[in-house]
Amino acid sequence: MKKGLFITFEGIEGCGKSTQARLLKDYLEEKGIKAILSMEPGGTEIGMKIREILVDPKHKGILHPITEALLYQADRNQHLKEKIIPHLEKGYVVISDRYQHSSIAYQCYGRGLDIEKIEWVFKNIVNGLEPDIVFLIDIDEETSMKRVKNRANTEKIELSRFEIEHLNFHKKVREGFLELAKNSKNFVVLDGKEDIETIHKKIVAVVEGKLNNV
Ligand code: TYD
Repeated sequence: MKKGLFITFEGIEGCGKSTQARLLKDYLEEKGIKAILSMEPGGTEIGMKIREILVDPKHKGILHPITEALLYQADRNQHLKEKIIPHLEKGYVVISDRYQHSSIAYQCYGRGLDIEKIEWVFKNIVNGLEPDIVFLIDIDEETSMKRVKNRANTEKIELSRFEIEHLNFHKKVREGFLELAKNSKNFVVLDGKEDIETIHKKIVAVVEGKLNNV
């Protein structure tokens, strides 16, 4: 059974979660702790194919919300069985950049799907695991959109299907995440406007506390 620690990072686009997830993984490895960093969607080879469908801006307005939600669950199922669970069993700290709470925030709070139905699939079909810690990096939707557009300009990349959604969508997603945080004890909410090093130190303190308790 599970021996490692399962940590997820959540937040709206441009909140800085991917940077923090990477910093945490580097920190753990430097300390000699076995850790892997993965992501959703796309944490496995099959998941990468599912991801291409999900983020393609050509699918805006065509990809049905239920198809979308099921593809995220399919990606998650593959990710859990192929990567997350085997590594937890070997005692790794498994860090995932996004997980089930993104589905609730984006597909339910954002697109309006029923939370109970999506949770039902996660619990009964995917047999999903609860993370030990969820780091929610919170920023407002205006800051999010500014950061995403700046990044696309400097890196000369196309905006993804979610990045071109309107401000109100991101506002609903943010509110969804904050609502989820209020109702769960494994959430740690961090202010994404603080500097990278300050946030990293807070994350390390929480993780160290948890590692010392196991
Ligand atoms: P991601 O690669 O994390 O994007 P970013 O790093 O730019 O935040 O995720 C791709 C998109 O998928 C992102 O817009 C959020 C969305 N998403 C969902 O809508 N539901 C989900 O369950 C997951 C995991 C992601």
